[in-house]
Amino acid sequence: MNTIIAIGSDHAGSQLKEYLLKELKIKGYNLKNFGTDSEESVDYPDIIHPLASAVDKGEISRGIIMCGTGNGVSMVANKYPNVRAALCWNEDITRLARQHNDANILALPARFISKELALSLVEIFLSTPFEGGRHERRIQKISKKL
Ligand code: RB5
Repeated sequence: MNTIIAIGSDHAGSQLKEYLLKELKIKGYNLKNFGTDSEESVDYPDIIHPLASAVDKGEISRGIIMCGTGNGVSMVANKYPNVRAALCWNEDITRLARQHNDANILALPARFISKELALSLVEIFLSTPFEGGRHERRIQKISKKL
């Protein structure tokens, strides 16, 4: 529970982010908020680069990011070699993102899922272990470009 979890969104995800911040703090998680904290329009790369960089450097072990679709934020986060950001919208995909892909950032589509489902996905993301084995070999190959 003492692990710091990074959380960030653009304007389209800011309401969901505020909800998750509140609920996760009640559950005892230690969160670092990278913004944005209003519905005023911002560019998602400006929020996600600092967050993903902190995860890439190992300063923070897990992140939760959201924008309207979840696509923009995951595209930015996955520019970093040590980041494995997974766009998830249901429980099974979220569980498999941890078990098979060792995802260290959860990307959520704020305009397409309920806040209750989002909280459930975050809890699965934070509690499901990586299976390792053949999946370890595969994730090691992700950053090896030809
Ligand atoms: C903002 O309108 C929207 O484009 C953004 O939140 C996100 O969905 C981009 O991928």
